[in-house]
Amino acid sequence: MTAIGIHDLELATGHHVLELTDLAESQGVVPGKYILGLGQSQFSVLSEDEDIVTMGAAAALPLLERNGIEGIRTLLFATESGVDQSKAAGVAALRLLGLPSGVRTVEMKQACYGGTAALQAAIGIVARAPEEKVLVIASDNARYLLDSPGEPTQGAGAVAMLVSADPALLEIEPINGISTTDVDDFWRPNDSTTAVVDGHLSVGAYLDALSDAWKDLEGRGGPAIGDIDRILYHQPYTKMAKKAQQRLREVTGEEISTALNPGDEVDGRDTGLETGSRYNRRLGNSYTASLYAGLASLLDHDDELAGKRIGLFSYGSGCVSEFFTGIVQEGYREVRAASHVEDVLDARVPVTVAEYRDLHNAPHGTSTDQVTPAVTTGPFRFAGVADQARRYEVR
Ligand code: COA
Repeated sequence: MTAIGIHDLELATGHHVLELTDLAESQGVVPGKYILGLGQSQFSVLSEDEDIVTMGAAAALPLLERNGIEGIRTLLFATESGVDQSKAAGVAALRLLGLPSGVRTVEMKQACYGGTAALQAAIGIVARAPEEKVLVIASDNARYLLDSPGEPTQGAGAVAMLVSADPALLEIEPINGISTTDVDDFWRPNDSTTAVVDGHLSVGAYLDALSDAWKDLEGRGGPAIGDIDRILYHQPYTKMAKKAQQRLREVTGEEISTALNPGDEVDGRDTGLETGSRYNRRLGNSYTASLYAGLASLLDHDDELAGKRIGLFSYGSGCVSEFFTGIVQEGYREVRAASHVEDVLDARVPVTVAEYRDLHNAPHGTSTDQVTPAVTTGPFRFAGVADQARRYEVR
């Protein structure tokens, strides 16, 4: 069978960054609650002239520069912070990226699981036509109400992945474990720009989905836990990955380490919980992109991955989840050497809490015409709304 998977991967985020110690102090909260309790140190904030389209296209651009566009016949854009009820955000991204008209483009949605749905659909397309490549973009602006419990877990980020036969980074294996349950833990009504969430319910739903998806994987003949070298989880905040690791430890009986922070006591086999959470700790929640930002972090901070099996758990509230596995390819370090995620994170411009709150309160809808101030220095910008349509510019 042809090996299919992720050939290359790139990450982009917003123009601004907020320090969670500043947010905590402004709220009279002990910073430790956010830094250790949630495992988050910062979150990205979009400027007024950025959105999921500009961020997604910015993630995809270096991928196309490195790999060319030959063979790309499909663009799957996964998001749960969509900017239109009808038109796929990927269509605007296609124009910004200069992709030709012979690229079918759709948007995929199921909360944070959408990126994985797009990845699996892409694998199906390549299985049928191995000469084709699929550009998967997972891009989200995670927004909760100001002063709500979810506020410190906000964030923004996009991951672009090129899916192909004979991939250079990660071959995705065919057996997976799935769990879908109808639960109201998190959703975003059509007329709201912020999510409605029952946070504690969502934590429980996530963990139950993990147990269920793992059992499904086992029942379908997936690899034993002892044959999985590293494990990545969807990270709405990085402490969630620690809770997930604890749950998987209980379900499997395998002593896998739950040490999340540098310096934490290592209490079992190291499966990369800390190395896989370094980017998300600084990005905040990037919803559909979060699991794949975790993958980028692991690949960039672990030199011993060639030939190793990674387990990946994807969770999207509502809820759909999947546990699947992949084998890291021999030349992964050379591929990742072209990517500079730390530089992207370091380049963000800090905002004060007052500035962040103003950005949060700025109009995010599309019904009113507006011209956005030119702030971002990225390759693409959201120029505003004219005749109720969103307008984008290439720099
Ligand atoms: N030092 C260290 N840890 C601290 C602390 C301190 N000073 N103060 C609190 N904590 C810990 C708590 O013990 C808790 O840890 P635990 O989860 O291991 O029990 C953690 O910080 C969070 O505290 P909690 O009181 O539960 O926070 P909260 O009720 O304000 O909100 C969420 C937590 C996750 C429910 C909230 O951030 C949320 O709604 N997030 C969005 C939804 C989400 O991300 N869901 C995840 C599944 S998709």
